[in-house]
Amino acid sequence: MINIIPQPVKININHEKKGYTINSNSKISQHYVAEELIMFVKNTLKKDILICNDGTENIILKTDSSFLYDEGYTIVCSDDTIIVTAKNDIGIFYAVQTLKQIFLQLDGIIPCFEIEDYPRFDYRGYLLDCGRYFFTVDEIIRIVDFIALHKFNVLHWHLTEDQGWRIEIKKYPLLTEKGSKRSHTNFNHKPHGGYYTQEDIKEIVAYCHAHKIKVIPEFDVPGHNVASIACYPYLSCFNRNLEVATHWGVKRDILCAGKESTYKFVYDVLDELIELFPDKIIHIGGDEAFKERWKICPECQKAIKENNLSCEDELQMFFMSKVNDYLKSKGCSSIMWGNDTDGDTDTLSTDIAWTVYKPNCTEESINKELERGRKLINTRNSAYYLDFPYGWTSLKQVCDDNGALTETDDDTWGIEACMWTEYVPNIKKLEFLTFPRLGAISENAWSPNGTATFQNFIDKADSYYKLLDVYNINYAPLKKACPSFIYKHASSVWFKRRVFHWEGIHTFFDNKKVERMTKNTVTD
Ligand code: ACM
Ligand code: ZN
Repeated sequence: MINIIPQPVKININHEKKGYTINSNSKISQHYVAEELIMFVKNTLKKDILICNDGTENIILKTDSSFLYDEGYTIVCSDDTIIVTAKNDIGIFYAVQTLKQIFLQLDGIIPCFEIEDYPRFDYRGYLLDCGRYFFTVDEIIRIVDFIALHKFNVLHWHLTEDQGWRIEIKKYPLLTEKGSKRSHTNFNHKPHGGYYTQEDIKEIVAYCHAHKIKVIPEFDVPGHNVASIACYPYLSCFNRNLEVATHWGVKRDILCAGKESTYKFVYDVLDELIELFPDKIIHIGGDEAFKERWKICPECQKAIKENNLSCEDELQMFFMSKVNDYLKSKGCSSIMWGNDTDGDTDTLSTDIAWTVYKPNCTEESINKELERGRKLINTRNSAYYLDFPYGWTSLKQVCDDNGALTETDDDTWGIEACMWTEYVPNIKKLEFLTFPRLGAISENAWSPNGTATFQNFIDKADSYYKLLDVYNINYAPLKKACPSFIYKHASSVWFKRRVFHWEGIHTFFDNKKVERMTKNTVTD
């Protein structure tokens, strides 16, 4: 038995033959990923593998352009060699991730076997919310190592939030000078802040690329912009003077969709993002944009009239489509949070892909968007929100999710695990919530439909935890990841309670204040 997560497509073991044992005379072909395997073997098996290129290698890494799958690979282990074949470096990289698990589990004593492997979905993402809490460059690099190990190929980097603006934008220096800091948090009365310089961003993008990971930055518009409004009040309806948000919750002050100056700001920020993120896909948010202010803002109302729109929801679709058009004109494409613009999406550009996160997005609306040609990524929070406690989303629940949004895999571009950080203030907590669920999500994203079950995962858990130990990961033990009924219930009650904190009395009274203040300013 060889336990690998995510489960490969095919694996055959031949116990009749002797196989190959890794030793200090083992040689591996020269290849930049070879270095990673050498380090892993040195740390775990305490053996030094040599790099060589003279035809005497025992671990052979070779590319073959006729190989069928872009990200796939085969590994064939016989009595004296382990041969990896892939179409390109990506497949070699994934084969090395698989070999690490095999070497560790079998202590370097490898039976004869053959593996054929390739991914189920093209898009396999991990969202990291650095807006609520700042994570250092070193911490992000650690996270990138983990996601690469699980054969994920996208880092969706959530960089702008109500509680903090995290990316240096040269044209708008206040965004980081002021917008990156909040005076206190939900958890304590200490200030919290931090941001990435453009040099930091380049370093992380380069690291991701070396690990076959694309980087999709998220600049969330028009909602989730209290930090930017705190720096530049003209971005909001009624030019409100706000502080960077301290607490969780969906804020009512969003970008004003009626002012040209808002579009100029958005385009200027996008111009700098386009330069920094060469993968040319940008997530433009679009979630949780409550329309209280737009309903009473003369400029938003004027925009609705002038553009023959029927309501504020259509104004948002107009806004998102305009931002998408701008990105398109610069050779980029965009993604937004799907089914969040309440109402019919007839007027929303079909070029915008969706991360579908609400479990109640109906089959009917999914099919409608598919017919329109929209690309859909499964981020349903019933299985893929890693910030939810195990009592809310157990490991079993993740394993049991099929992964696809419809009956056929072809309709789903991929899967994304979302690490929101409203209540994840440090990497230790992040790791606890991420593992072991990330292993199960990687199986939904990579392994053939139906091959990865909860029972299979449990059977492989010992080997998986041994792998996580190599990286010193602060994972949740199985007992916590699969909680009892009582614990599950208690945890759900606690989690529901947090909604009270999120929305808060503060938001309620603040809304009333704005309504009073603006009572007489509405046109018509
Ligand atoms: C989201 O959960 N607001 C995308
Ligand atoms: Zn407005």
